[in-house]
Amino acid sequence: MSTAALITPSLIAKTFNSSGIETVPTAVENAFTLPALPYSYDGLEPYIDKMTMEIHHTKHHQAYVTNLNKAVKENNILGSLEEIIKSAGKYPPAVRNNGGGHWNHTFFWTLMRPNGGGAPTGKAADAINKSFGDFEKFKTAFNDAAMKRFGSGWAWLVKQDNKLEIGSTPNQDNPLMDVSEFKGTPLLGIDVWEHAYYLKYQNKRADYVNAWWNLINWDQVSANL
Ligand SMILES: [Fe+2]
Repeated sequence: MSTAALITPSLIAKTFNSSGIETVPTAVENAFTLPALPYSYDGLEPYIDKMTMEIHHTKHHQAYVTNLNKAVKENNILGSLEEIIKSAGKYPPAVRNNGGGHWNHTFFWTLMRPNGGGAPTGKAADAINKSFGDFEKFKTAFNDAAMKRFGSGWAWLVKQDNKLEIGSTPNQDNPLMDVSEFKGTPLLGIDVWEHAYYLKYQNKRADYVNAWWNLINWDQVSANL
């Protein structure tokens, strides 16, 4: 997917990496901004409902952006979002939580698309088959990581050196963080906070995770490799 879809006109002077993550070093007020979704709020129906998407984007993600801007200003932190989260251990918890929240959600939106899903394609398919045997084995292991993450957090597929690994992180931790219990370059990730699924799926995380496979943007996963 083109990252241009994530750039609003007012942000045109800024730059974004291949995952749509903002890369402009700055510490001015409101330095970080909420990216537009690359689809409409009802674009992921019936797997993720419109109200969940709207609240998730305009309330939860926006709160991470607002609170990250506050934290970088208060602590006079300079750097791109990626630089900041890679050094999260140097900063107060508000930077770790909200910087991770902004990065993780910006990444997450790009990993889904209307009429997505199916089996992996291209580079993603080759790498998954090489590391896990086949797609079904990979899916089983990834679902397991998503289900076993206690409380709020994320399950991830990451690249570590030349191999792929599956793991999970608590809260808004991210595998790029120096303080993360699971490290690597994120290729795919799923938000398993209840705010991502509770309105439609209530407490049934497994139903949400199973439905989410119908949305995967495999072109973006290949681009992340
Ligand atoms: Fe979320």
